Amino acid sequence: MVPECCDGSRVLLGVSGSIAVYKAIEVTRKLQQAQIRVQVAMTSSAQQFVTSLTFQAITGHPVFDDLWVSKGRIEHVEQSHDMDLLIVAPASANILAKMATGLADDPVTTTALSTRAHILVAPAMEDGMWRHPATQHNMQILRDRGVWVVGPTEGVLASGRVGLGRMASPDEIVDAALHILHPPPLSLKGDRIVVTAGPTQEMIDPVRMLSNRSTGAMGIALSEEAVRRGAQVCLVLGPTHLKPRDNNHLRVVRVESASEMLAAVQAELAECTMFVGAAAVSDFRIANPRTSKWKRSDSEATHLELVENTDILKTATARLRALREDAWVMGFAAETEDLEQHARAKLERKGCDVVIGNIVGPNRGFGEGRTEVLVVSRQQPAEVLGPATKSEIGSLIWDKVAQMRGKFH
Ligand code: CTP
Repeated sequence: MVPECCDGSRVLLGVSGSIAVYKAIEVTRKLQQAQIRVQVAMTSSAQQFVTSLTFQAITGHPVFDDLWVSKGRIEHVEQSHDMDLLIVAPASANILAKMATGLADDPVTTTALSTRAHILVAPAMEDGMWRHPATQHNMQILRDRGVWVVGPTEGVLASGRVGLGRMASPDEIVDAALHILHPPPLSLKGDRIVVTAGPTQEMIDPVRMLSNRSTGAMGIALSEEAVRRGAQVCLVLGPTHLKPRDNNHLRVVRVESASEMLAAVQAELAECTMFVGAAAVSDFRIANPRTSKWKRSDSEATHLELVENTDILKTATARLRALREDAWVMGFAAETEDLEQHARAKLERKGCDVVIGNIVGPNRGFGEGRTEVLVVSRQQPAEVLGPATKSEIGSLIWDKVAQMRGKFH
């Protein structure tokens, strides 16, 4: 969804040499659809993959592709003043290293060094190059300098191998660009939020477990949106294939079982102003998990003894309220029926300020697709948000919360 306010912004897309160059064409298109004026700068390696003519045809502007062809002006200086955001996508390991050290010997790095506009990089490279300490050190330097980073993600890489190093999708890049160009109201500035998300896994034996279908997508979306609104977030995340976006204000603590989740939450509460329980916590764990694999022939193999897990939300709420008067708590209720009734009961039973209800079933509620939620609180009648993507729902939920807390500026 493209916000209406996004016209008039100017982006320079810096394209460096990576097989992901073809996706930069889609980034250009999507930025244009958001009414953003796009111009392109390319390194000579990028031109080994796609010619500058392609970008010139799409943008309708000459491409800055050669430092040594004078058009009667100092191109990188002109470019650097003429934009609100420089997006380097794809950003190869080489260009990131050059940017980190301040080298400037091509159209993209000369512009990056001259500009005072925001810079967003979308790294794309082989897994080993991304994980190399040199690249990680360069990324830290860039982050510390205020450069925004989107991706990389895990998936099939140019080599055909699976790993971390795939460029973020054009949608994710444009989404990040829109948030930089038009940040949402900083209604969570000063908040320190602990969010639980994802499933928990309760081991039965070393290879089997009790778990559920949660992916953590909603809790991750809420965490990322809270960060955009100025909060510091600690995300206590159960086992999931999803990877929250890299950000200095989002700390991720990975856990597996409900007991680990509880311990991680308790360790964070003293500093926290808000608690969000979005995790699908297993209600029970195995009384005596086996240290070796159950065999079919075991006479007891048809019987599992379960013990109840502590209610993390209820425990955290009580503790937080004892620590600070203005503490604020959001719970979730995933139900197959009677959503409002169950959500209201959980609001009271667990002492939350708001409960976000969603209907779940065989094909509903889990994963990253579009969804719909019900906001249940004591102050206002229940309200449906959506259908929308989880990231849009995250934003709508924080708008509601900000309203309820009276902190909208
Ligand atoms: N929750 C929690 N710790 C638990 C169980 C649930 O923190 N051990 C939180 C969830 O993160 C969610 C809310 O409580 O925010 C509701 O979770 P749900 O599983 O729907 O509630 P239960 O209390 O387990 O109720 P029931 O299973 O009977 O629906």
